[in-house]
Order: sequence, then C-alpha cells, then structure tokens
Amino acid sequence: MAEINVVGLSMGVLLTLIAVALHYSKGTGWQSTQDISQEVLDRRAETVPETDFPEPMNRSIGGGAAAAAVAAGGTADGAELEEGGEETVEESGPADIPEDEVEYFEVEFVKEGETIELANNKTILESGEDHGWDLPYACRQGSCVSCAGQIQDGPSEEYVVHDNQQMLDDGELDDGYTLTCVAYPRAAFSIETGKAP
Ligand code: FES
Repeated sequence: MAEINVVGLSMGVLLTLIAVALHYSKGTGWQSTQDISQEVLDRRAETVPETDFPEPMNRSIGGGAAAAAVAAGGTADGAELEEGGEETVEESGPADIPEDEVEYFEVEFVKEGETIELANNKTILESGEDHGWDLPYACRQGSCVSCAGQIQDGPSEEYVVHDNQQMLDDGELDDGYTLTCVAYPRAAFSIETGKAP
C-alpha cells in the first residue's frame, strides 16, 4: 500500500507540476501580434517634417481649417475665374456664331492647290481637316506655332480673327502669319499652310 501511495503521490505531484507549467507557459509565453501597420505609420510620421499648412483633402488635419484655407483660396481664384469667365464670354464670339448667322469666305490653300469656302465660326485648321487635309498642329490653343501659316494678301488680322493666339507678335501678324488653330476667317484670302515665322 505504501508503494502505491508513493507512486500515486508522485503521479499527482507530476501532473500538478505539468499543469502549473502549462498554465504559466500559456499565460506568459504568447503575446498577440502588435499592430504592425500602426507601427509603420508611426515610424513614417516621425520621418515626415511638420508643415504649417493643411494638406488638401486631408480632413484629419484641422479639417475645418483646411476647408477654410481651400475655400479662401477658392474665393480669390474664383474672382479671377469670374473675370476670366467674362473674358471667355467675350472671346467665344467666333466659335459661337449660330449656324443661321454664319458667313462663308473663299480661301485658297496654296500648297493644297484648292480653294474652299470656310465658315467664320470654324478655325482654318478645323475647316481644312473637315475637308480631309492633314494639316500640322500640336496644342490647338494658340500657344505653339505648329499650326502656323502665312496669309498671302497682307496683315493676317485683316483676314482672320484670332481667338487667343499667344505666340505671334505684331510684326509677324503684319507679315500675314496666323495660327490656324485659333484663326476664324473674316474675309477671302490665300494662305500657305505649314509656314511659321
Ligand atoms: S497648334 Fe499650337 S498654336 Fe495652333
């Protein structure tokens, strides 16, 4: 009986030790994974220098202030835009001529060897393309000279209305040069396309 009691006692002690060991190993050996993305974000935040101005679209940084700043900028720009808008209305003249008020002018395209009628609400470039010619162009807004041509009859502005050409100076205009992408005919003329000053 004494032997049995010793064995039983030993087993009991052993099982108790194992249970205690397991209990502690489970309780202290395992930890939840830390939020790595937050860690990365924190590290990144440390490397980014602080700025005084709110980042656009970032509502978390003084959202109201950011919005106010944008709104303030917007107001200033808005005023310019309004002015610009008025200019646009003034400038939109030639392209906005309604179809029943359109006038046509005979224009000779010297290189192409043909005379065609151009509407005064379309640019020389557009009308030439509509006719099937592959005329040169790049920006199509008067800010390069890729589409330039030379009117043979005299100062170009006697024959076309330029809608916001930004490249030709008065001397070049007087020599007949025009930017065909923004030039609307106002009289009959001859033009050599693909000719820049
Ligand atoms: S295509 Fe650039 S000015 Fe006409």
